[in-house]
Amino acid sequence: MKVVIDTDPGIDDALAILLATASPELDLLGLTTVFGNCAIDVATRNALVLLDIVRRPDVPVARGAADPLASPYLGPVPQVHGVDGLGDGGPSPSPTREPVAQSAAEFLCRTAAAHPGELTILAIGPLTNLALALRLRPDLDTLVERVVVMGGNALVPGNATPAAEANMRSDPEAADVVFGARWPVTMVGLDVTHRVSLRGADVDRLMSAPTEPGRLLARALPLYRSFLERTNGLDGIYLHDPTALACLLDPAAFAVSRWPVRVETQGISRGKTWPSLGDTDDATPAPWQGRPEIGVCVDVDASRVVGLLLDRLSTAVGAADAGEGGG
Ligand code: BDR
Ligand code: CA
Repeated sequence: MKVVIDTDPGIDDALAILLATASPELDLLGLTTVFGNCAIDVATRNALVLLDIVRRPDVPVARGAADPLASPYLGPVPQVHGVDGLGDGGPSPSPTREPVAQSAAEFLCRTAAAHPGELTILAIGPLTNLALALRLRPDLDTLVERVVVMGGNALVPGNATPAAEANMRSDPEAADVVFGARWPVTMVGLDVTHRVSLRGADVDRLMSAPTEPGRLLARALPLYRSFLERTNGLDGIYLHDPTALACLLDPAAFAVSRWPVRVETQGISRGKTWPSLGDTDDATPAPWQGRPEIGVCVDVDASRVVGLLLDRLSTAVGAADAGEGGG
């Protein structure tokens, strides 16, 4: 499967990138970066560093948007991902190369055109680059095989605000464009990602691997873990972005409903993803009329997904004994 990952690394993004490089099913054609967990320069640097660590000089990185479509960047979240986007656990090496000259939007268009009908975009940050790519090339939605998005909350509360999930909240206008285009979209939101977590003991084991990826996790994961312990009472970490990757690798582990989805751009609910569930008096109210149905993940076999991700992560970091997993 030919894949470009659009990403704002970001600690769980880093895990998803490690997982992608340990997944033989995936032909990773590039990373495109976007503001989000950190500013665009930091995200781009981190993407390059991560590919150095997994020794993938063949995978290009294209720098993307610094700001949302219609508003200024809300700023980084150092309490979750660190000032450096990778947990502030000490200096990471400098990247050995530069991003390509094309922007992320150009890279997405060119890659899709080079592989018509074959490219999957795995979008695990704000959806700005995808919306910009659609502006550059309005037929892009006919060239891409599918788009899998980590983001949104259909039937559960948000995490950035009571209403909204962080990636959607970061650029609701872009998300509304992406969910309204004609490409097949699957939304892997908090409805499922809040059920997929790695236990503390497994986090410890991954961090103790005496390898470069293991040392990266030892620097990155403590901050994320203590944030989640403090705010969510979790002994372990959520696997938001890796769960979207798992949806590519093992789709049968997910239950998917099909609804048109609008993204709120106003007021206190800015960034809320609203599916039209079909249970109103008017089956499809005006704002949802003419919008394509997208796949919305509503349930997940969490222990199966955690088992898969833990196996792959253990391979990626060179840690023995994957353990039994668990949701
Ligand atoms: C999403 O927001 C970011 O903080 C994470 O990297 C993930 O993509 C979770 O809401
Ligand atoms: Ca992310």
